[in-house]
Amino acid sequence: MGAIPVDPLWWQTLFDEVYLITDARSVCNDELTRREVDFLEAHLQIRKSDSILDLCGGHGRHSLELARRGYLAATVLDYSEYLVQLGRTRAAEQSLPVSFVQADARQTGLAGEQFDFVLVMANSFGYFPDDRDNLQILCEAHRLCRPGGTLLLDLLDSGYVMERFRPSSVHKANEDITVSRERELTENLIRVRETVVSGTKGLLREGTYCERLYKEDELVGLLRQAGFGKIEFKNDFSSHQNPGDYGFMTQRVIVTAVRA
Ligand SMILES: C[S@@+](CC[C@H](N)C(=O)[O-])C[C@H]1O[C@@H](n2cnc3c(N)ncnc32)[C@H](O)[C@@H]1O
Repeated sequence: MGAIPVDPLWWQTLFDEVYLITDARSVCNDELTRREVDFLEAHLQIRKSDSILDLCGGHGRHSLELARRGYLAATVLDYSEYLVQLGRTRAAEQSLPVSFVQADARQTGLAGEQFDFVLVMANSFGYFPDDRDNLQILCEAHRLCRPGGTLLLDLLDSGYVMERFRPSSVHKANEDITVSRERELTENLIRVRETVVSGTKGLLREGTYCERLYKEDELVGLLRQAGFGKIEFKNDFSSHQNPGDYGFMTQRVIVTAVRA
């Protein structure tokens, strides 16, 4: 047990309106989302009629952008009621054909073998300290993919995070709000205490979270165990244009795997 205690179910409560402020640089930046979707279109052979699952898709920014580009069958699945409701409202306001489902990615309740692509974007994997839970998400993604379907994981780059490990960081989320992060790295798990303070309202939140750092061979092992093959890695992925410390989103690794 490290000095920063983390509830293993932290991910059930952290992703709310405060997260949209603390992570705005990465998840509320339309230009960056467009670049990420440009990358998906260039990297994957997606057709407009393909069925796409945006797993752990938050407020659906990638699916909404895909729908704007004419993709007809995107579904966002996320645990956060707040983000799912926000995405649903935006889809309705913009008349975009995106479905939203609130569920746990380990056990979605969706019918199997229905998706041509399952996307897990922007560092949404590895939230469980126990590998079996992370594996369960991959097994569920495998069950949901059609035979021949592709899983794409957009993950933090564990080597990059370990090499440049910084025990603390501070950034201004906007003129009023400051986000401070204290980090602790033990072997393959990073624990973070995040404090969010408003100049006008005081402390908005003090929360903790953790992330399992997977090396390439460990990911290959988990993906094979889940039943995937044709596993490929693309390193050095970054959608941020200006250099800076964007936490786990600074430099990422893209992994693709195919259901046989
Ligand atoms: C960093 S956010 C990224 C969201 C989205 N992919 C994006 O790029 O905007 C991670 C998301 O994963 C979701 N999440 C985490 N664990 C989950 C689980 N077990 N089941 C479903 N969603 C989960 C959170 O609710 C959150 O919306």
